[in-house]
Amino acid sequence: VLPLEFGERLVAWQKRHGRHELPWQKTRDPYRVWLSEIMLQQTQVTTVLGYYQRFLERFPTVADLGAASLDEVLSLWAGLGYYSRARNLHACARAVAARPDGRFPPTAAELQELPGIGRSTAAAVAAFCFGERIAILDGNVKRVLGRLLAFQGDLASSAQEKLLWQHAQALLPAVGIEAYTQGLMDLGATVCTPRSPQCLICPAESLCAGRKTGEPTQFPIKTRK
Ligand code: ADE
Repeated sequence: VLPLEFGERLVAWQKRHGRHELPWQKTRDPYRVWLSEIMLQQTQVTTVLGYYQRFLERFPTVADLGAASLDEVLSLWAGLGYYSRARNLHACARAVAARPDGRFPPTAAELQELPGIGRSTAAAVAAFCFGERIAILDGNVKRVLGRLLAFQGDLASSAQEKLLWQHAQALLPAVGIEAYTQGLMDLGATVCTPRSPQCLICPAESLCAGRKTGEPTQFPIKTRK
């Protein structure tokens, strides 16, 4: 694969065919972007929309969220599931509010130190809000890049996962990290779907090593336990 070509194609595709109307795409406020990323980790966009709006009405700023009781946060979270997310959300808001400037730090490395923010979420917030040129690699992106590269490694192996992170970083375009990052998410959600990828409308079709094998859905390889 020619890395630069993939990035440039994805940026162009995202601008034309990607999603632009989601509420968290209309802001670069790290609080709003972070809240959306945490909610979207294990929950569908359509479910998240209502919760997202109610959270922001009740807690317009990270300071408001940090000042609330955990019980109130948990009650607003009710129905979203994975309640450790809500506990970490509250702990993270308190940690941010306790910083000297009361703001989220502006780099992925620092964001990742906060409660409940993993490597990919830290990168997404840093890319969307601060334009940091850094790779994301969530479950959907593992599928997209695993196919693009016909990645042979078993992602249950931490060495292989590390290697895919390195590929993800090497694929980044020189410019347009925001559209690129959103493009990876959009491609995974709408085109490069788990069971029936729509290769014929994919901007990476001619570059995709998985497509060339004739069986893109076998990537990334999953070994049986
Ligand atoms: N899932 C995780 N982050 C997302 C985003 N920014 N837009 C749409 N779906 C997402």
